[in-house]
Amino acid sequence: MNPRAVTTVVDAKKCIGCGACIRVCPSQTLTMKNKTAHVTGDKSLSCGHCEAVCPSAAIKVQALAPEMMLFASFNLDREWMSHGGMAPGKLAQLMASRRSCRNFKKTQVPADVLWDLIKFGCLAPSGTNSQEWTYTCLKDREAVLTLGAMVMNFFKGINQKAENTLLRKGLKLVGQNALDAYYEEYYESVKEAIDLMENHDQDRLFHGATACILVGSTPEASCPKEDALLAAGNILLGAHALGLGTCLIGFAVEAMKADKSIQERLDIPSRERVHAVIALGYPDETYEQVAGRKKPMTRFI
Ligand SMILES: Cc1cc2nc3c(=O)[nH]c(=O)nc-3n(C[C@H](O)[C@H](O)[C@H](O)COP(=O)(O)O)c2cc1C
Ligand code: SF4
Repeated sequence: MNPRAVTTVVDAKKCIGCGACIRVCPSQTLTMKNKTAHVTGDKSLSCGHCEAVCPSAAIKVQALAPEMMLFASFNLDREWMSHGGMAPGKLAQLMASRRSCRNFKKTQVPADVLWDLIKFGCLAPSGTNSQEWTYTCLKDREAVLTLGAMVMNFFKGINQKAENTLLRKGLKLVGQNALDAYYEEYYESVKEAIDLMENHDQDRLFHGATACILVGSTPEASCPKEDALLAAGNILLGAHALGLGTCLIGFAVEAMKADKSIQERLDIPSRERVHAVIALGYPDETYEQVAGRKKPMTRFI
């Protein structure tokens, strides 16, 4: 279906002609005629602003799937929360309490909870509201280990190359610094992680997670990487609220970027790109308090 197709329908009998929908519509899909809103535009972002703002429930945007607002773990209050309507301290506490989890219980995450996390992801903003996210769920430990083995294998190959001093220095001489930089930064820790995984059954890569969500996007997205990362941010916070721990696994993203066969073996179409890999599960760790952050470079102009 054309992503810009207009699926907005106005019930003329219910419309009171207030004009609120026209004011909030970003794509001039609606105009007022004879004191009633009419669909006159030939494009729509399907953002649903018109449906959400209408005081008489006169508008439906049919492209929006009602089930995406139905969560299995809780009932979503559909009333719009006004600006300033949430205690900011509670939100900051949630943000500060979300910590990357590196100790997971063996308990499996139910499929409907994974769906709830995907729905949290879909509540994120996306460039031109394209919502061209893709979510690949590794739903049990076995599936996580399958990806883990592929990622480990990739880094084993990189470590083998990085061990070769001649190759590293030669590449550096011709201006290719990446392998030397990798050697300095990651070689030792990757070597240790491979040894722990292969000889001591310790998972330094996915930290024992029992599920994983790979957040990607299709080429149709106008801001593919940004959209996927914003969705991932929602999932991290939503997971904490649902009692789950999460950890972003950048090593897996890097491996999938460099070795396209990993994506292929996971049956993810080659046209998609994975931008975030989120290890998750029930946390086997708690904290006493929230910690601080470094002070960032900031300027006010
Ligand atoms: C893009 C990105 C990639 C990351 N990759 C990994 C990873 O591969 N393994 C890991 O244990 N943590 C990873 N992390 C987690 C960071 O180490 C973590 O966010 C940081 O130490 C701050 O801790 P906090 O998340 O508990 O606030 C990643 C974080 C980001 C934003
Ligand atoms: S917001 Fe609803 S009531 Fe107001 S003009 Fe639009 S359709 Fe009519």
